[in-house]
Amino acid sequence: MITEVTIVIPTFNERENVSPIINALERSLGSISWEAIFVDDNSPDGTAEHVQNIAKNNPRISCIKRLGRRGLSSACLEGILASSSPYVAVMDADLQHDEVILPDMLNALTQENYTLVVGSRYLEGGGMGSLVPGRITISRFATWLGRLFLKTEISDPMSGFFMIQKEYFNKICEKLSVKGFKILLDILISSDTEIRIKEIPYVMRSRLWGDSKLDTPVIWEYCMLIADKFFGRIIPPRFALFVTVGTIGVGVHLSTLFFLYKILLIDFISAQALSTIIAMTNNFILNNIFTYRDMRLRRFQFIRGLMSFYISCSIGALINTLFANYLFNLNVPWIISGFIGAVIGSIWNYAINSTITWKE
Ligand code: GDD
Ligand code: MN
Repeated sequence: MITEVTIVIPTFNERENVSPIINALERSLGSISWEAIFVDDNSPDGTAEHVQNIAKNNPRISCIKRLGRRGLSSACLEGILASSSPYVAVMDADLQHDEVILPDMLNALTQENYTLVVGSRYLEGGGMGSLVPGRITISRFATWLGRLFLKTEISDPMSGFFMIQKEYFNKICEKLSVKGFKILLDILISSDTEIRIKEIPYVMRSRLWGDSKLDTPVIWEYCMLIADKFFGRIIPPRFALFVTVGTIGVGVHLSTLFFLYKILLIDFISAQALSTIIAMTNNFILNNIFTYRDMRLRRFQFIRGLMSFYISCSIGALINTLFANYLFNLNVPWIISGFIGAVIGSIWNYAINSTITWKE
């Protein structure tokens, strides 16, 4: 018998949830012919081995174990691509998604001719269950932000619970950016044609075992995903952040200079040198928190990074000054010479710091 639907289940440290989720799927899917592919990023708790043990006696179960990688979206993508059934669902391992609606989701694809079905927490009849209030606020904010950019009216674009026609997925999968946590949003953004989407409400359950992996790096990646999709072709979002930090740095520099020179009455050259160091340190810290959040430097790496940032930016300042001066001597107006010098200095700083200070 051919398998009609594959349930892709990304896992990271979900050992305790594996048997319960398989039992839940068996109960809910009944006579439908299905399989489940777990995609595990080499969880320290041995989730993959546990799944493989079960798979020895259960032909419906299989496991893709990835080494040296992390990432929810890419895990989902690999699971979907490994499936050869006509319909594929993505679902969390932690039992927060209500498997009872899976047959309805499948029905919407096979009988009602929808391309994509989304489990929604925000439709009438759905809900967030007993999620902590902080998480609800983050989730609502992320949802609002995501919807701003979508052409389709959909109540829960952040859902991690959906089912899709494999044929359609194959058509768009090369357009996905696969960064971060939000594969559904990625699919929605990458779908330029009008597709038929149905939402089915469900109440999100709370997690019984293990911990959520949604944390600030995930939120950061999410914002970068949105930025990259919408203006990434014009300015890479990381560069935009870098320039923003640089602009803040100019403000820090000038106010420190004012304080040292005008109020503490330190001589100008010392005041200027000290303000430069303070502004550079400020920029380094802000870049480390925001621009390069995914490669954040800590402890010894932080000190090493700060030194390499000082050196790179000093060279940047030199290039900036020499180039601006060269233009100025060619009779280019001072403001344009200064501006072009600053732009070239920033590009240098960005390029060099992206390669030596924060490297992937
Ligand atoms: N392979 C792999 N790699 N799996 C991962 C990774 C990873 O890096 N990170 C998380 N997972 C798995 C978890 O093991 C779990 O099965 C599922 O992905 C969801 O992770 P959770 O950590 O439980 O996420 P959450 O409950 O905080 O977030 C859920 O709600 C969001 C909406 O607020 C998820 O369903 C999200 O997809 C959803 O958008
Ligand atoms: Mn969860």
